[in-house]
Amino acid sequence: MPQMQLTISYWEYDLNDGAIPQDIQRLIDKSIAVREGAYAPYSRFQVGAALLLSDGSVVTGNNQENGAYPSGLCAERVAMFYANAQYPHLSIRAIALAAGEGADLTQSPITPCGACRQVMLESQGRQNHPIEVWMVGKNKVIKLSSVDSLMTFAFDGSSLKK
Ligand code: THU
Repeated sequence: MPQMQLTISYWEYDLNDGAIPQDIQRLIDKSIAVREGAYAPYSRFQVGAALLLSDGSVVTGNNQENGAYPSGLCAERVAMFYANAQYPHLSIRAIALAAGEGADLTQSPITPCGACRQVMLESQGRQNHPIEVWMVGKNKVIKLSSVDSLMTFAFDGSSLKK
């Protein structure tokens, strides 16, 4: 049996070192700021997501928890579903994610949960453009050039379409 290998590329940046493109730095700043509106009384983990759309506008989301725990939703899906609902004809070019308690950001970059990866992947599949993923932490920022890098052997929702 041949052993196969998959590799992904990713890029590391320092937060605020000037190497991050300006529009993305603004997006990152929004993902940090929008955490303030998170409703996270149970986890105290405030997550912010900011999406850059093809017309240059930005859509943001934050995590919204619920006392019946599974009813809450992650920041990424709040933002992705809002963008797809309000701007179905625009494509999403980039997503920035930041998290932490209160003003304190996580040291390491926040990485999305499996369910959010699946949603991000299908949103990307609906458009003819990859979505860059920028994951923010205090000590570094990681960039992926496409959602594909977040999920190998992903379930392909489009296979359900006849
Ligand atoms: N959360 C997100 O919003 N995004 C992620 O990528 C990971 C987790 C939220 C869900 C829950 O409100 C809290 O963070 C703790 O898991």
